[in-house]
Amino acid sequence: MEQVTIERLGHQGDGIAPGPVFVPGTLPGEVVEGVIDGGRMAAPRIVTPVDTRVKPPCRHAKSCGGCQLQHARDDFVADWKTGVVRHALAAHGLDTEFRPIAVSPPQSRRRASFSARRTRKGALAGFHMKGSDVIVSVPDCLLVQPELAQALPLVEALSMLGGSRKDELSVTLTVSATGLDAHVSGGKPLDPTEEMQLAELARRHGCARIAWDDEVMTLRPAQQAMGAARVVPPPGAFLQATPQGETALLGAVTEIVGTAAHVVDLFAGCGTFALPLAEKARVHAVEGDRAMTVALDKGWRMAQGLRLVTTEVRDLFREPLIAEDLTRFDAAVIDPPRAGAEAQCHQLARAAVPRIAHVSCNPVTFARDAATLVAAGYTLDWVQVVDQFRWSTHVELAAAFTHR
Ligand SMILES: C[S@@+](CC[C@H](N)C(=O)[O-])C[C@H]1O[C@@H](n2cnc3c(N)ncnc32)[C@H](O)[C@@H]1O
Repeated sequence: MEQVTIERLGHQGDGIAPGPVFVPGTLPGEVVEGVIDGGRMAAPRIVTPVDTRVKPPCRHAKSCGGCQLQHARDDFVADWKTGVVRHALAAHGLDTEFRPIAVSPPQSRRRASFSARRTRKGALAGFHMKGSDVIVSVPDCLLVQPELAQALPLVEALSMLGGSRKDELSVTLTVSATGLDAHVSGGKPLDPTEEMQLAELARRHGCARIAWDDEVMTLRPAQQAMGAARVVPPPGAFLQATPQGETALLGAVTEIVGTAAHVVDLFAGCGTFALPLAEKARVHAVEGDRAMTVALDKGWRMAQGLRLVTTEVRDLFREPLIAEDLTRFDAAVIDPPRAGAEAQCHQLARAAVPRIAHVSCNPVTFARDAATLVAAGYTLDWVQVVDQFRWSTHVELAAAFTHR
């Protein structure tokens, strides 16, 4: 048994003591004891808790591996997430104004990927236990919208239909305006009788659509509202994690874009930003996934009263829009995946587009790309940290850049 004092929280949410020793479920300032093996104290006893520790609000928190930070007070997590962005920027010699963090409330996640496995008695669906492939049922999960937690019987039924006792089924459920949108992977191919059973399950559980790998069964178009438009994303396509997080990011993006008449939306997805912005500006939406741009375009065509939205399928890592293509825009929105947008930001920097709204889910690559823009004459005016992955270590943000 050894005793250590936690100094800081790591990027995965573990407490870190000198050594370093990684101690899950602990907070800075706590004295903990336990057996250290390979730089890790897997089962710590908290000797001296800190006042930032709280009783996890969810009854599943002890066993479920879905959340990492339920044992920490909200204001601690807010400061920690803001600090992660601040430190990433500081590593490049940057600092700026931080607006108060926007945190999504409990039960707000509109999408969850559940795991399911057949058992001797039936099936079990839920999230994985901490650090294990064992599945725990989470009927009272406080993270996801209630429709999702209530749909665990559907996930179990899907597993009974086409899962096995050996392999796990993965079922991603998204709340859409017209019912649940399910995407199943890891199941066996269904025969015609099983397909009819799948349709019956979809009807009984209020699904708008079920995609069984590449086979898509649509009962109603699984719509998502994007401003005045209604979009039907391809099964499993990227969506912002919570409606509240999306509202916060869109609010920041709209403010940054301001009165720009012509906007380029880079890594546009299905139009989360492009379609609402089209209420005031012409928008060119660029995205690498063809099916997503088709969904965006259809949503725009069916909507009333929007300005022109054009779409382009393009790999912005290999073939970024070059500066000469970008100078016609008054503002750019850029929302890349975790890898960031190194090549594209070099071109934005060369083009000196007057305003840039940069949305990011990775503070490290964001800070690298921000440094490129600042070196080229941009000012980083402010950052809005958005926490739509409550109780996890994920950090998202929107940032405002203007060209001097
Ligand atoms: C973080 S999502 C943002 C999507 C959209 N802005 C939204 O808020 O819904 C990043 C998007 O980048 C797209 N993407 C990933 N790699 C890409 C690439 N190399 N070129 C273009 N788009 C890419 C993904 O398909 C995804 O839609």
